[in-house]
Amino acid sequence: MSETEVLLELTDVKKHFPIRKGVFKKVVAHVKAVDGVNFTIRPGETVGLVGESGCGKSTVGRMIMGAYRPTAGHIWFKPDGKQRTDIASAEPSEIRALRPYVQMVFQDPFASLNPRMTIREILAEPLVVNKVVRGRALEDRIRELVELVGLKIQHLGRYPHAFSGGQRQRISIARALALYPRLLVADEPTSALDVSVQAQIVNLALEIQDRIGLAYLFISHDLGLVRHFSKRIVLMYVGKIVEYAPAEPLFNRPLHPYTEALMSNVPTTRPELVGRRIILKGEPADPINPPAGCPFHPRCNYAQEICSTVVPELREIEPGHLSACHFAESLNLTGCDALGCAI
Ligand SMILES: Nc1ncnc2c1ncn2[C@@H]1O[C@H](COP(=O)(O)OP(=O)(O)OP(=O)(O)O)[C@@H](O)[C@H]1O
Ligand SMILES: [Mg+2]
Repeated sequence: MSETEVLLELTDVKKHFPIRKGVFKKVVAHVKAVDGVNFTIRPGETVGLVGESGCGKSTVGRMIMGAYRPTAGHIWFKPDGKQRTDIASAEPSEIRALRPYVQMVFQDPFASLNPRMTIREILAEPLVVNKVVRGRALEDRIRELVELVGLKIQHLGRYPHAFSGGQRQRISIARALALYPRLLVADEPTSALDVSVQAQIVNLALEIQDRIGLAYLFISHDLGLVRHFSKRIVLMYVGKIVEYAPAEPLFNRPLHPYTEALMSNVPTTRPELVGRRIILKGEPADPINPPAGCPFHPRCNYAQEICSTVVPELREIEPGHLSACHFAESLNLTGCDALGCAI
């Protein structure tokens, strides 16, 4: 597989939700949930998408699934290595045709599994609806999926309520894998689980990736989880990417003050460094009315005049390492490694 092969490519993707008021439902403003996002996912790789609550992570995931149509931009998807489709402008029939190749796993495995269906029925549904297999082959595929996610054949006749949170998430993963996807969008798949179970699910996801060569977009607010799971990491702040880099350089030497602040708040193994925590001023910016210039500038300790007027472009500062800070080259920011982050 070549390094330059691309499975998914987002170019300048935006999603602005209209806010309507009054009897005539007049549009009075827009929530700029996603505001010009660019990144790629290569076949079989994991990209982590990280940021605080409300920064637009799930909206990105839903646009990739074709559930939300972007306000602008392109989402190129090339599941078979040949023809690419722009999910952003695809017809509903084209999106349905792509459905087997891109699947999603959600945070709450209970809400996403029908309580009135047995596990066998839950796993059979996508296979039957998409006419993938029938009869004996259907039962074989169901058993293969159950085995792939570490559940037992005797579980097949049970209903979701008979399982623990971790097991239910395994069932959701099995269902998402039924149609041999090339990309799995996992939206906070472990946040509702105990820490010990989180690790099991992450390990399972990595094992599956090894076995079937699947790409993941792993959405999380947890930098630690993403670090161990992702090859490359996209960091978002109020609808925009602030930093985009391979995992190790990002943790060694962040190139955006927001990343530095997030890392300084990760628990440290070096008690003498506790005082170096960067307390962010104020609240995350309002996506309806984001600040002019750099959206992070009102909270940034390094902000200068230009930051409140000129929007910083996401630029490549070091090979493969992009930052949207006017001063990315000159700031000497401290990363997780120097801080002894316990992740
Ligand atoms: N359907 C919608 N209509 C209007 N605004 C929306 C809609 N969906 C999301 N938003 C807004 O868009 C912004 C981004 O939301 P999104 O759910 O993508 O964030 P998130 O990063 O996934 O947050 P969290 O970590 O809490 O899941 C938020 O301000 C949210 O209120
Ligand atoms: Mg979300």
